[in-house]
Amino acid sequence: MVANFSRVFDKVAIIGCGYVGTALARYWQKKGHLVTATTTRQERVAKLEEVAAQVVVMKGHDAKAVQSIIQNQDTVLISVAPVGDRQVDAKGYEETYLPTVRNLVAALRDASTVKQLIYLSSCAIYGDKNGKWVDEASPADTNSEYNKVLYEAEQVLLHSAIKAIKVCILRLGGIYGPGRELTKRIGRFAGETLPGSGENIACWIHLDDIIAAVEFVRQNRLDGIYNLVNDLHRTNRDLFDHICDRQGLPRVSWDATKPSFSSLNACVDNQKIKAAGYKLIYPDTIV
Ligand SMILES: NC(=O)c1ccc[n+]([C@@H]2O[C@H](COP(=O)([O-])OP(=O)(O)OC[C@H]3O[C@@H](n4cnc5c(N)ncnc54)[C@H](OP(=O)(O)O)[C@@H]3O)[C@@H](O)[C@H]2O)c1
Repeated sequence: MVANFSRVFDKVAIIGCGYVGTALARYWQKKGHLVTATTTRQERVAKLEEVAAQVVVMKGHDAKAVQSIIQNQDTVLISVAPVGDRQVDAKGYEETYLPTVRNLVAALRDASTVKQLIYLSSCAIYGDKNGKWVDEASPADTNSEYNKVLYEAEQVLLHSAIKAIKVCILRLGGIYGPGRELTKRIGRFAGETLPGSGENIACWIHLDDIIAAVEFVRQNRLDGIYNLVNDLHRTNRDLFDHICDRQGLPRVSWDATKPSFSSLNACVDNQKIKAAGYKLIYPDTIV
């Protein structure tokens, strides 16, 4: 009998190993894939070496570094977001996303091994649609400087037109999960007054669903844009009340004279990814 030595593992590069990237690196490494992870900070290398075969310190504006990382890879995941806890201005946003995707597309033209590119975008791109339903065909909000950057980054990737590479964009809702529990993040505002009417409809997605959906995309070689949000379409007021009530905390008040802290106000449809066969792990659970 002839043994089958055909390779069943993938070589995966994760550009931007923060909250989501690290969780995916851990998941893929456990599955036996060969993971290359990137960070912008030397001090994070040792921690990332626990979940990746190779760790590279780089920034997306470094074209040579981007080119080197994708050599011999099968799958490339881009999961970058501005560094730090503070909200960056639109310029900082632009400097994080745009050079990274432009350099990546240029580098992919010479990287014949890459079969799948997965880019983590955001449902924030829809902006304020007065709480109406939106799907992947709905227009992006290009009035906001931030969303313009998100939109342009997606366009650069979608129009890369590199033969044999599937380009899939997952538009994520707000991310929650271990260490980013909504119970804690919302609970700490108990009794306070927050800006906005509270009537914005936000959308959320659990970390485990992001991991599972990214893996689903990789295995099924999906391309195009997919919203990745759970089934809850609640206003911020409703969600904050629910979480405060559940913990016996005083409710949050809202100041409608001020602009909302959240620029998204839309019911984001998740039928497309479901129709492709993805089943949400946490369709309606809030932790
Ligand atoms: N957070 C949310 O609720 C949310 C909602 C919708 C969509 N998303 C998207 O989901 C993805 C993952 O988010 P996350 O919460 O995991 O982000 P995160 O924890 O902030 O991690 C971002 C990663 O990007 C790296 N990075 C920052 N600037 C970079 C640059 N110029 N070049 C290369 N790498 C750079 C960071 O480096 P360091 O390792 O040095 O920090 C970090 O590893 C992002 O694409 C984000 O846009 C997030």
